[in-house]
Order: sequence, then structure tokens, then C-alpha cells
Amino acid sequence: MKNKKFFSSSLLTWNNTANTRKMPWKGEKDPYKIWISEIILQQTRVQQGINYYDRFVREFPDIKSLASAPQKKVYKLWEGLGYYSRCKNLIETAKFIHQNLGGKFPEEYENILSLKGIGNYTASAIASFAFNKPYAVLDGNVFRVLSRFFGIEIPVNTTEGKKIYGQLSQLLLDKKKPAEYNQAIMDFGAVICKPLLPLCTECPLSKKCVAF
Ligand code: ADE
Repeated sequence: MKNKKFFSSSLLTWNNTANTRKMPWKGEKDPYKIWISEIILQQTRVQQGINYYDRFVREFPDIKSLASAPQKKVYKLWEGLGYYSRCKNLIETAKFIHQNLGGKFPEEYENILSLKGIGNYTASAIASFAFNKPYAVLDGNVFRVLSRFFGIEIPVNTTEGKKIYGQLSQLLLDKKKPAEYNQAIMDFGAVICKPLLPLCTECPLSKKCVAF
């Protein structure tokens, strides 16, 4: 793949020199807190998610506290976020880990993926952020960045598209720094390679970007 090295190293350089984005879960290593943040962010904007995340982890700082909380209290904290099946799955999975896994969050990707309410994206986020395992995240930000830079026109919601983006994102991932790389590409998509009005004049990747 052409420009693979350029892409990954420019991205990490941008992250270390120009990325000023701050979010409470950035750099977090506790798989429980990463899980909570990623579930909240699935259907919620970052700005709104931050308040909910802060209140949620303050009230329920670990698996045990969530697993043993009265359900009403958990739903109360979720109020306003919508998509309540997320909240239901959080409670169920916390109870499952508490009762069946000795309260310890699984570390292997496949075991994380098997938990209720956790799909490929969330499993990759937890495995990479918490355990530094080499799984590339693929969310809307990542799709957009890759399709623009590499000029991929295959839609992401097709079998072929999923395969191509999956392989490409895994190829680009810095296997020595999966946590840093994954956070960097999501931040880059949100801050520079935005859906509307991307900041191409500030973009360190523009000189080799197909869409540019
Ligand atoms: N969206 C979902 N998870 C995110 C994260 N960890 N950082 C930035 N945006 C996100």
C-alpha cells in the first residue's frame, strides 16, 4: 500500500505536536471506564457525552458498583441520552462480569467481543486503549479519513467495503502504539478531517491526500 508509512507517521506526529483535544477518557487505562465512555459515545455527541460520562463514573466507579446498583438509579443517570438498550446492556454485562468473571474485565479481544452490547468497534477500542492490543478502531471518523486520503469510493455499508476498510485500517495501525494511534485517528477525523469544512490548510496529510 502506497503512502502507508507517510499516513501513519504523519498522523502520530500531528497527534504529538498539534492535537490539543481533551476528553476525560483520553489516556484512560481502566477497561471499565473505557467501556462506559465508548457506549455513551455510540449515539451521543462528545460534548454531551462528557457530562454523562463524568456523572456516571462518579456514581459507579467500577464494575462492582454498577453490578450491584438499583436499576432505577442507573436509568436515572442515563435519562436524556436515549437508546436505552445501551443502558440495559451495560447493567447486564456488569452483572455478568461481576458474577461470572470474578469482576475482572476480559483482556482478549474475542472475549471482550462476546460481551452483550459490545461490537467490533467497542471491542477494538477497549482492547487497544486498556490493554494496548493491536486492533484498529473503525468508526465514522476513521472511515471518512481513510476514504478521503486513499481515495476509496466503495461504500462502507457493503460487504466489500467493510472488508477493504477493515484490512486497510489494520494495515495502517501502528502495532507498537495501538492505543495512541487509535485515539489519534479519531481525534484527527473530529478536529481536522471534519465531515463538513475540513481544515485542509492545517492538514499535515494533504500533500498526499487523494480527496485534497
Ligand atoms: N468517539 C468514540 N470514542 C471516541 C474516543 N475515544 N475519542 C474520540 N472520539 C470518540
